Amino acid sequence: MPAPNLRVTIAGIEMKNPLTVGSGTYGHHGNFSQFFPVETMGVLVPKTVRNYKWPGNPGPRVLETTAGLHSSVGIPCNTWEHFVAHDVPILKTLKLPIIQSVIGRTEDEYVEIVERCDSLNVFAGIELNLSCPNLKQGGLDFGYDPDSAYKLVRHVRSKTRLPVIAKLAPDYTSLLKVAKSVEAAGADAISMINAPRAMCIDHVTRKPMIGNKIGALSGAAIKPLAVYMVWEVYRAVQIPIFGMGGVTDFRDVIEFMAAGARAVGFGTINYVDPMALPRALGELTRFLEENGIADVNELVGSAHEDRPALVVPERVVA
Ligand SMILES: Cc1cc2nc3c(=O)[nH]c(=O)nc-3n(C[C@H](O)[C@H](O)[C@H](O)COP(=O)(O)O)c2cc1C
Repeated sequence: MPAPNLRVTIAGIEMKNPLTVGSGTYGHHGNFSQFFPVETMGVLVPKTVRNYKWPGNPGPRVLETTAGLHSSVGIPCNTWEHFVAHDVPILKTLKLPIIQSVIGRTEDEYVEIVERCDSLNVFAGIELNLSCPNLKQGGLDFGYDPDSAYKLVRHVRSKTRLPVIAKLAPDYTSLLKVAKSVEAAGADAISMINAPRAMCIDHVTRKPMIGNKIGALSGAAIKPLAVYMVWEVYRAVQIPIFGMGGVTDFRDVIEFMAAGARAVGFGTINYVDPMALPRALGELTRFLEENGIADVNELVGSAHEDRPALVVPERVVA
């Protein structure tokens, strides 16, 4: 049997294999893995950037728990000028598509950083990190509010030629509404999940254990809830999904793809086992060969025997 096809295409971005990394978990600001070539993966998603300098949250920022990583880093960011002078030249040397993750506190800040990134002619796509409070709308995260998410994606869509990927907040209540909103607003793909909110309290001091008090939980512990959310969103929308949340090996990649993801991100595992991604790539390839699966795309949605027929949503172009 010839080698299986590993190529996937998401939002017009051609990836030589479906593996990627969760923004912020695989080096950033120009420092990428010393363990394997960045080009091993299908697409690189560097750390989220802002259009202004930002200190991030007070320490401690990360804490290992019995089952996962508790963190609240707060997306620290240097100036745009620093990004252009120090990070972009390194990104330009990489021989793979790059999706730059961005964030803002208002719709205008998102639009501005998207336009700046677009103008560099370096990126294959833009990921909107929607896990940020909307300062003009009472502080509710864009990713929790279908109306804000719709307005934001629609505005961004009208300002860039690049594919727009909306990274959803992992919120059970609003998840499907936000997924449908961003699709209707013209998002080309969805990325999910970001780390769900969490807290750890020290039993002696009876105080929260990280500087920001409230943080998130990531790593293997969250995989079943991430898989469930991907499953639900796959049934609700037609745009492709970057799935992530607790991935550690090739079996998790297959699980996310069966739930509906077309590409799969490695996140917290990069801190634990930096070779997890290249190893999973080799094992995924062998699994496909041994099981006579000629094309990795066959895995996508394969857990949904009863997927309902979907109606292609009308693309809104502002
Ligand atoms: C330390 C840390 C930093 C992160 N930084 C970002 C970030 O800058 N932008 C973003 O969209 N997600 C960020 N994430 C979320 C991850 O990209 C990913 O969505 C989440 O951790 C779930 O995947 P995992 O369980 O495999 O880590 C971060 C997660 C961690 C643990």
